[in-house]
Amino acid sequence: MKIEQVIMSEDNVIPLPHAAGKDIESVCSKLLVHHDEQIVLCDRLEEVADELPALSDTQMCLSLARQIHPMIRAAHEYEEKTLFPLLMTTDNVDDTLKSTVERLRYEHWEDESFADEVADAMIRFVTDRASSNAETLAYMLRGFFEGLRRHIAFEREHIVPLLCKVRKACP
Ligand SMILES: [Fe+2]
Repeated sequence: MKIEQVIMSEDNVIPLPHAAGKDIESVCSKLLVHHDEQIVLCDRLEEVADELPALSDTQMCLSLARQIHPMIRAAHEYEEKTLFPLLMTTDNVDDTLKSTVERLRYEHWEDESFADEVADAMIRFVTDRASSNAETLAYMLRGFFEGLRRHIAFEREHIVPLLCKVRKACP
């Protein structure tokens, strides 16, 4: 069975056959690609926040605003439909891992809601500056990218090593 064909069950514990080593490698590398993209996004959002209240490139700001939600949604969807179910098939599944996955899932939901607010605020700042507040926007941007960086750092420090450990145990 291909990992991508996994269907999430109600309690998030997926009765799958154990994944092959090459599947785990591919999941891990895709996770890292998504992380890298989001890290670049965070850096660019930080540049916007640093530049406020001035904004030299409004088109870049609009384009960035439109990228936020699709980019993080694609990354979250991959983790929720492929990575988390894979983790739930490993021999390391215990209550701690289950609650970690639940927390990560909740953080995804929070980040996506926040992403919409940040994107709307960025678009409003460009299209209706009179009703926008640069300080508020900078504060929102920092809250968003700092939270996203923390989430990614956690996955890199805890989930990636776990995948490597599972990979080593695979035939
Ligand atoms: Fe995540």
